[in-house]
Amino acid sequence: MTAVGIDAIEIWTGKLKLDLPNTFAPEKGEDPEKYTKGLGLNASSFPDAHEDIVTMGANAAHRLMDRKGLTPDDIGRIDVATESAFDNSKPVSTYIAGCLEQVYDGDFHHANKGERKFACVAGTQAIDDAYNWIKAGRNRGRSALVVATDTALYARGDPGEATQGAGAVAMLISEDPSVLELSTEQGYGSADETDFLKPNQQFPSVDGKRSMQVYLARMREAVEDFESVSGDTHPDDFEYIPFHTPFPGMVRKAGLLGYRHMIRDTTVEEELADEIGFQPREDEFEDREAYEEAIRDYMDKLKETDQYREWYGNTIDPTLSISREVGNWYTGSVHIARASALRHALNEGIDLTGKRLLVGSYGSGAQAEVHAETVQDGWKDEIEASNIDAQIEDRYDLSFEEYEKVHDRHNHDKTIEIEDFTVPDGEFVFTGRGRMNERMYDFVE
Ligand code: COA
Repeated sequence: MTAVGIDAIEIWTGKLKLDLPNTFAPEKGEDPEKYTKGLGLNASSFPDAHEDIVTMGANAAHRLMDRKGLTPDDIGRIDVATESAFDNSKPVSTYIAGCLEQVYDGDFHHANKGERKFACVAGTQAIDDAYNWIKAGRNRGRSALVVATDTALYARGDPGEATQGAGAVAMLISEDPSVLELSTEQGYGSADETDFLKPNQQFPSVDGKRSMQVYLARMREAVEDFESVSGDTHPDDFEYIPFHTPFPGMVRKAGLLGYRHMIRDTTVEEELADEIGFQPREDEFEDREAYEEAIRDYMDKLKETDQYREWYGNTIDPTLSISREVGNWYTGSVHIARASALRHALNEGIDLTGKRLLVGSYGSGAQAEVHAETVQDGWKDEIEASNIDAQIEDRYDLSFEEYEKVHDRHNHDKTIEIEDFTVPDGEFVFTGRGRMNERMYDFVE
């Protein structure tokens, strides 16, 4: 059976940076450690005046196509995942294709284009669609371009303002992939929830605390569904576990719950029992409240154990390094978590070929998806080619007043002109609106 999976990854961060502990926290009268320690964030990325979801997605895709020596004929699908679309009819993928056609000979007229929506899980769903299209034999030797692109803005003053971000991840899904083979082992946890939504509005209505509970509940359901296919999971099964990362503190909670689940009825639970006891079982308790309190107590002890800390440090923490510097990218977040882990392995000289990842995606509304991937032998060259560290380093550092202007500039209800903070160089830029209110783009050499 032909392997299908991720052949190439390119990441494009919004070119502006908001320093959360040093610029944002003092303005809000908050302790900087709420950001660095509590949420686990140092900074958020923002789009410059000439950037938006189309330019970021097109720039990531352009880099990917150039680096892989691709032409439009090599691409049979362009799927964009976003929850920041500005049009309820025309998909962002048509804009991105239009941008790319400005710089390549040929066109994408025979590529199927679409837009995927299910909050932050849509990027993973678009990869799934591409996988199924290839596995069904309908790709005619061509690859799929999946672009997850978002500008994650919250209304000013909303608690979510602390976790904003902007950027795009372009991924090429192909036969015989260089980076990761996707497996058929997959689980879902999906329910009608009202935790975060945008009913025809740009900024989300969000019940932040509830969204965290829903994330954990749906993720747990997805893991159980995954195990019904793969058999029980064990902490040693996976080299890394990239989760959807709205902010690293969320993943800290998911990692601990996941570890508790995976060690249940294993020798790890037994080994830990001398120190912290066995995990509470519900049938040992008269009521749910007492059981939940015992669980909380067990988790508090578990997170202090050497075993857990070592596992977290090796398996989860490496997935968070990009996210810490850029904030929430919604549909792209889980994909930058995966890229962070691969980059960590490269820097540490860890050989990943043949190793497995467990990827946990989540979208509010709500759905979690968990699947396994196997690292392929071309992963090193691919990750080495990424310039994401330089991009993060080169961002323009905004003052608080500048941040407010940038937020207004990207507010769809306002028409604010501001000067660019950075100079476009070999990239697509937003140039204004046309006669039907469409957005227009140019490539700047
Ligand atoms: N030092 C260390 N930690 C601190 C701190 C300090 N000075 N101040 C606060 N913290 C910790 C808090 O204890 C909390 O951690 P905990 O949950 O482990 O207890 C964390 O920092 C966040 O602080 P909190 O007061 O809960 O922040 P908040 O009320 O501003 O809300 C969110 C946080 C995540 C609910 C909010 O940012 C939000 O609504 N985000 C958007 C929705 C979202 O991303 N949901 C996730 C699922 S997709």
